[in-house]
Amino acid sequence: MDLITSCEEMQKRAREWRRLSQCVGFVPTMGALHDGHRSLIRLARNRADIVVVSVFVNPTQFGPSEDLAAYPRDLEGDMRLCRAEKTDVLFHPTVAEMFAPDASTWVLEDRLSRGLCGASRPTHFRGVCTVVARLLNLVLPDFAVFGEKDAQQLRIIRRMVRDLAFPVEIVAAPTIREFDGLAMSSRNRYLSPEERRQAACLRRALDEAEQIYLSGERRASVLKETIRQVIRTAPLARVDYVEIVEDQSLEPVEFCEGPVLVALAVFIGKARLIDNTRLPPVSPP
Ligand code: PAJ
Repeated sequence: MDLITSCEEMQKRAREWRRLSQCVGFVPTMGALHDGHRSLIRLARNRADIVVVSVFVNPTQFGPSEDLAAYPRDLEGDMRLCRAEKTDVLFHPTVAEMFAPDASTWVLEDRLSRGLCGASRPTHFRGVCTVVARLLNLVLPDFAVFGEKDAQQLRIIRRMVRDLAFPVEIVAAPTIREFDGLAMSSRNRYLSPEERRQAACLRRALDEAEQIYLSGERRASVLKETIRQVIRTAPLARVDYVEIVEDQSLEPVEFCEGPVLVALAVFIGKARLIDNTRLPPVSPP
């Protein structure tokens, strides 16, 4: 596996692969890699000639009061995991390599970014879109893999790629979970043992909502209240948002009839955790 830290070198290699008609699969990450990331790398490995993983903690997607400085970093561990999954190139640029001091161009997706996490983190998706656009231009992949765990991010990236005609396929990967249902996340490392125990309430709440949906409840207000009730059973948890939105437009729904996305963000101690589930469309009578 090669470690590349220079943007110029990365793009040079990418152009060479293109010239040789190699299929390049790309997995962008912020590092502190876990089995969720591992599943994305495996998916890429199964389809591509060349697999590139990027590890870059992107300052532009963190708000001023967020956890940029504390965000977990573990390059040694990341290199081990990438090597074990037969990654060809680990791209690990510095902030100075990625953003010129006078950089002044942003990629702004202006509809899907407004609700859900975008409401609590107003500049977050502008930072995500800008860094992903730059990474795609450096790695020039045939396809890039994103996790359903960050469902809003995935939909926004798809929209950006469509709207700006990036020549790349976006591949979705399912959420990988711990034994008790907690979605794997680099931020789980912040949790104390007691917080970690209570963090299982996110998935329990989503399961509960799904159960009452499957038994016929269609009112979004009732499903959302059910979720809040389950979260209240965990004293260390504080809801940031609970939303039910149409799966593609991410517009809030009152009744769950098409495919909808149930999404939530919950603070547990210092960590802000997110999770989601998709409810299948109502089958015709
Ligand atoms: P990061 O949080 O490191 O996640 C990198 C990729 O791994 C994302 O596509 C995310 O959805 C996926 N992922 C994380 N946890 C997962 C899990 N439990 N199961 C399946 N996939 C999971 O998302 C980012 O980084 C950044 O915003 C990034 C896109 C790299 C831009 O900076």
